[in-house]
Amino acid sequence: MTISTDNEPVALDMSGDPYPFFEYKRKTEPVWRGTIMDHSMAPPEMVPDEEWTLFDYDSVFAAFRNDEVFGSHGYDQTIGLVIGPTILAMHGKQHHDHRSLVAKAFRASALERWEPSVIDPICDALVDEIRDAGQADLVKAVTFEFPTRVTAALLGLPSDDLELFRRLSFDLISISVDIEAGLRASVELHDYFLEQVEQRRRTMTDDIIGDLVAAEIDGEKLTDDAIISFLRLLLPAGLETTYRSSGNLLYLLLTHPDQLRAVQQDRGLIPAAIEEALRYETPLVSVPRTTTRDVVMHGTTIPAGAQVNLCTGSANRDETRWAEPNTFDIHRPRHAHIAFAGGIHMCLGMHLARVETRAMLTSLFDRVTDLELAADDDVGIVGLTFRSPNKLPVTFRPAS
Ligand code: HEM
Repeated sequence: MTISTDNEPVALDMSGDPYPFFEYKRKTEPVWRGTIMDHSMAPPEMVPDEEWTLFDYDSVFAAFRNDEVFGSHGYDQTIGLVIGPTILAMHGKQHHDHRSLVAKAFRASALERWEPSVIDPICDALVDEIRDAGQADLVKAVTFEFPTRVTAALLGLPSDDLELFRRLSFDLISISVDIEAGLRASVELHDYFLEQVEQRRRTMTDDIIGDLVAAEIDGEKLTDDAIISFLRLLLPAGLETTYRSSGNLLYLLLTHPDQLRAVQQDRGLIPAAIEEALRYETPLVSVPRTTTRDVVMHGTTIPAGAQVNLCTGSANRDETRWAEPNTFDIHRPRHAHIAFAGGIHMCLGMHLARVETRAMLTSLFDRVTDLELAADDDVGIVGLTFRSPNKLPVTFRPAS
């Protein structure tokens, strides 16, 4: 679907390739009164009265850093209605206190422990399941599955519950497509996580739910609802983003065979490939904020109370920061991208996302060879708010 906005000469392609529109906007009107969001499925009460979009890197970066003016409290009226109040919508001391509690589990140093003991074995076992089949849809078999299994393991969920957790996670993150199923999953996840919390109150375990049960702020334990909201947040924030970004990475490597070969031969290139894929095809294309007062950007006044979409997908293609930004090139000189946002809400799980994606790629390259996209005209990266391939049919041979 394409939407022609205000008779612009370049239309916004809502599902295929939004980048020509983003480039046009960066060059002509980087602070724009208008929206890149597709609100066609949203209930009317969730559609903001006034929307703006920031397209260039400097404006998007500045807005993330200025959380006094660009507040995230709008989440209370959107995702917060489904998963409960979370750090995403908090600010000031409350945000700092809650984030500090959970940050420990996601530090790079904590992951050094989880990587060999939990993450690597999960990825190895997963690829072993398809190794001899010679063909697979990597989205179904790998990119959705590895963050689901890693998240379940880090939370300390029993392995018998994996199928239930997979179904509830899938339904919750599909809420924009099926609201009923999403709301049902939210309630079921509440009850399921409550049971897990109560078990740990009786017998403590060494996992993320155990950490949250033991945590205190100013001498007070977290309430059950605060713990459960945080756990539910991990599904859209951690699982969905990782499955989409790893699908983008695999698609980009498979469609750039020279770069795929280079990474297969030199695993030291995996981190650069992960970062370039996050820059080139940012899975979460836009992050919403609400202005707390009037603010001037590029000489244009954005009024208080407006929703402002910080278009990370456009900022990551800014030609003033990257030479030939529309080229996927894992060998390019590195400049930090903004796929993980910035400021106080900068992604808490970015180290985990990197570690688990690297583990997945390593397991795949160690176990299969001659990896190629199967002939299929309908494969590509689609979507606007979230971007990723819906399927990745591939053929391969087991590595000897
Ligand atoms: C490639 C994968 C990922 C991407 C692209 C990504 C992107 C983002 C972005 C853009 C934000 C900022 C949202 C905002 O400011 O409104 C964010 C926040 C967050 N992310 Fe991630 N994320 C990824 C993986 C993960 C993982 C694996 C986890 C944990 C399991 C995680 C947990 C969180 C949490 C808890 C926040 C909220 C932080 C706060 O409000 O202080 N993310 N992420």
